[in-house]
Amino acid sequence: MKFLYLPLWFFKTRILGKKIPLQSVIFITDKCNLRCKHCSIYSTKNTLTKKYKQIKKELEYCYQLGSRFVDFEGGEPILWRDGDKDLNSLLDLAREIGFFSVTITTNGQQPFSHVRANSIWVSVDGFEEYHDEIRGKHTFERLVHNINESTHPHISINMVVNCLNYKAVEQTIEFAKQNQNIEMISINFHTPYKNTEYLRLEMEQRAEVIDKVIAYKRKGYPIMNSISGLKKMKTLDFKKYCWISNFIHVNGQKTVDCGGSKLGLCDECGFSMAGEMNALMNLKPDTIFAGMRLRM
Ligand SMILES: C[S@@+](CC[C@H](N)C(=O)[O-])C[C@H]1O[C@@H](n2cnc3c(N)ncnc32)[C@H](O)[C@@H]1O
Repeated sequence: MKFLYLPLWFFKTRILGKKIPLQSVIFITDKCNLRCKHCSIYSTKNTLTKKYKQIKKELEYCYQLGSRFVDFEGGEPILWRDGDKDLNSLLDLAREIGFFSVTITTNGQQPFSHVRANSIWVSVDGFEEYHDEIRGKHTFERLVHNINESTHPHISINMVVNCLNYKAVEQTIEFAKQNQNIEMISINFHTPYKNTEYLRLEMEQRAEVIDKVIAYKRKGYPIMNSISGLKKMKTLDFKKYCWISNFIHVNGQKTVDCGGSKLGLCDECGFSMAGEMNALMNLKPDTIFAGMRLRM
């Protein structure tokens, strides 16, 4: 059934024109243990943390829509608690409901070996001082320690490239390759949400970075992005299929995409998934291969 899901989903969406999300992104808290320069999500006071019951309803809603992959986001998802329930309770619940795989994105400041996600994405915004400049002193050292200590079988890293760290892309890709505990690296670009506009990378610089990433990918480095998807992110001049991921925000608001379209940010979007989704819908073999590797 799991193996039939993707071809069936493709048939229903691409051939029959239905908009069925493949994956859901659920923000479970805006509480965070870091104050990153690029972030517009964490809250410093009056933090919002969803109740277990609410997240259960949201998971069921996403499942009903047809989604079978879920990513828990924050804030910092590892900090999530509701009484005796913790993040593992949510991960188990999602699989009980029928999701094929559950991922989390973490800042890696706390150990995560115990986290029962199918895969764990650790945010690494550059090597050493580049990362620390964005996320705070010693945050790189702590996440490297936690990656090295982790026994989790599927750890990958996510780098968001901006004007402060673009010079560190090569070093970060090398770091991903050399660290035995890291499966792959995903490259995204800063999306200039309110008050973070100064971090945007000019499109010419973005194109240069993408060319470098493609060269590494061609050399066999473990880069999650497909070459077809990366090329799309150079110009952003393509049809968006961002409904492939539906979002439920920390205030419970449901959106059919990341919500950036409402804010007029699509022309400056840095989420490489946008390019991957277009390439997938255009049946680019390398994107299909990258997607299968990621999902299955
Ligand atoms: C909002 S964070 C929350 C999860 C966790 N606290 C962490 O730091 O990974 C999820 C991911 O979104 C990325 N992100 C945050 N703001 C962004 C922006 N403006 N543009 C692109 N990616 C962004 C982060 O780098 C991180 O990889």
